[in-house]
Amino acid sequence: MDHFYLVDGVMHAESVPLPTIAEAVGTPVYVYSRATLERHAQVFKAALSGLDNPLVAFAVKSNPNLAVLKVLQQQGFGADVVSGGELVRALAAGMAPNDIVFSGVGKTRAELELGLDKGIGQFNIESREEGQELAALAASRGEIAQAVLRVNPDVDAKTHEKISTGKAENKFGVPLIRAREVYAELAGLPGMNLRGVAIHIGSQLLDLEPLETAFAKVGKLIADLRAAGHTITHVDLGGGLGVPYRADENPPSPAEYGAMVERATKGWDVRLAFEPGRVIAGNAGILLTRVVRVKRGGNGAPFVIVDAAMNDLARPALYGAWHDFEAVQPNGQRMTANIVGPICETGDTFAKDRECDALVSGDLAVFRTAGAYGATMASSYNSRGFVAEVMVDGDKWAVVADRIAASAIMDAERVPDWL
Ligand code: LLP
Repeated sequence: MDHFYLVDGVMHAESVPLPTIAEAVGTPVYVYSRATLERHAQVFKAALSGLDNPLVAFAVKSNPNLAVLKVLQQQGFGADVVSGGELVRALAAGMAPNDIVFSGVGKTRAELELGLDKGIGQFNIESREEGQELAALAASRGEIAQAVLRVNPDVDAKTHEKISTGKAENKFGVPLIRAREVYAELAGLPGMNLRGVAIHIGSQLLDLEPLETAFAKVGKLIADLRAAGHTITHVDLGGGLGVPYRADENPPSPAEYGAMVERATKGWDVRLAFEPGRVIAGNAGILLTRVVRVKRGGNGAPFVIVDAAMNDLARPALYGAWHDFEAVQPNGQRMTANIVGPICETGDTFAKDRECDALVSGDLAVFRTAGAYGATMASSYNSRGFVAEVMVDGDKWAVVADRIAASAIMDAERVPDWL
């Protein structure tokens, strides 16, 4: 469910025609819908309404734009952050420090210190070494860090290998077989209140079964830890719920996910936390682009060259991901095309032999489901600038991230005088 649709033959974001935004801001530009974000937030919260006071911590990495974070803060969300940069953003958006969880496999000492300085609610510790460092740091400050131990349950999440995080060979968390021993060691350290466990097995999950398997392993671990005398009050179940990138994809609904969570965590008697990213932001954004030109290939379908590229939306190049591609003003004709960007590598291909609306030079088009892992993964490759971002709210809209021109990036570079 989203708010990007045709009105009188022109695609709108809520009540704003996309050509209006393209004229004013230029292309490519990401466009987010506030109503869609709010709806997704509400559906997710409703799905968890059977739980006792869960913390929903938006995975900032999926869309760190301040306006997006503000919308979610107003929906009562906290934040799951994985860097000092994300932590500062979450606070700037008004998220309560206590509603912030700090995940990430390589938190630096400076980042651990920042988390303590800001009084965040929870550190998700990913290794024995990190736990020791945090405990020592907090003790030296006369403080007690609130923490949970991230465990790696060795479950195949059945998703793209680059976004699978819960298999034994992945770098995340402490292997389940060592979790009891590491937990016991860390729980005994001054400076840290180790109060539970965390998991996150992967992203864009289209099947609940691996999650339920992983949760069952966590349930067993909690029982073992309690039997060993530990007090377990918090469990963080991560994110990962998939979204439909294409019509034939049918991910579990938040309601089905919520029902499974209730079933799997029955009797745990802990405060649960969740770290959804994509399911909140994915379909709340599109990437608006303009066709530069259409060119005939040597054989096969023509190339529709758009002004967006892999530096603006990396997912197709990185993961072979599918994003629906539609004309902003479809004329009823269809074509089969290779949709490509201007960057000088063949990987800068959004879609091959895609059946889509017929397009000519100058037409506007959108890549859908670009609200998560879109702008946030942009780079300046080929000395292209950083794309602008816009948020729409009914018939209002605003630029929520300026385009950063290639020249501004160049301005940050220096040629030493010895050259
Ligand atoms: N929590 C942790 C610890 C994570 O590592 C992630 C995502 C999330 C929560 C949020 O997961 P979500 O609910 O969004 O699935 N760039 C990739 C996705 C990478 C996900 C990394 N971790 C993509 O474009 O598909």
